[in-house]
Amino acid sequence: MKTTCCHIFCSSIGKKYLMALSGMVLLGFVLVHMLGNLQVFLGQEAINAYADKLQSSPAVLWGFRFFLLAATLIHVLTAISLVRENRAARPDANGDEKFVQATIGSRTMGLTGSLIFAFIVFHVLHYTVRVTHPEYQQIAHYTLGKSHKEVHDVYTMVIMGFQEKWISAIYIVCMALLCLHLTHGVSSLFQTLGIRNTTWKTNLDRLAIVYGWVIFIGFVSVPIAVLMGAVPPTG
Ligand code: HEM
Repeated sequence: MKTTCCHIFCSSIGKKYLMALSGMVLLGFVLVHMLGNLQVFLGQEAINAYADKLQSSPAVLWGFRFFLLAATLIHVLTAISLVRENRAARPDANGDEKFVQATIGSRTMGLTGSLIFAFIVFHVLHYTVRVTHPEYQQIAHYTLGKSHKEVHDVYTMVIMGFQEKWISAIYIVCMALLCLHLTHGVSSLFQTLGIRNTTWKTNLDRLAIVYGWVIFIGFVSVPIAVLMGAVPPTG
């Protein structure tokens, strides 16, 4: 049993699968989170009711948070370990030859991944823990139309957040980095799963690019709409 576990977790191929699996969890999360955020465009009631629904069962919420954290840690730690193994196997890995076939996305995976990780820490402190902007705690509660329940006004908080130009700029730049990371990440995922063969390569690479762009446009549409005044402060 011990040797089987070590075979899975310690071998390069095992680590690649762990990275692919954890990557799939994170890909699913960003898509669902992006779609959830788009409810800002449906108005204050819609997004506040949605946010409240997500928070309504603390056990499910915390279970999901631990699951997401575990997926993130597995993804980061296996990435670090695989990069170290690759460097050890190819001491001349910094040679020019390596860059002939490499795309900007593949060359910057470590950098974009680290910056996205830093962004997530900032983002959680910004909108979930709300310590970067304690004034968000003073926002008046919103009363849901159907249940008359008093809930945190996520709608107003998001608008207040993105009205600050530097905050919007950070989010937009980080979403561009996320797009770059996801585009190469999805291609690598197909490679690890063994389906990126000569027949499918071009179409799968296109699919990866489309996925990255969909995520980018979906996320940045919120700060851009707020900056343009297209999302009314109460709506
Ligand atoms: C414009 C882009 C984004 C907006 C407007 C946004 C909005 C939000 C908001 C409002 C919350 C707090 C929800 C609440 O308190 O009910 C939140 C939480 C969170 N967001 Fe985002 N988000 C964005 C991008 C991202 C990205 C790109 C990631 C990850 C790569 C991400 C990961 C998270 C995580 C992990 C949480 C904490 C969830 C929890 O409560 O456990 N977000 N986001």
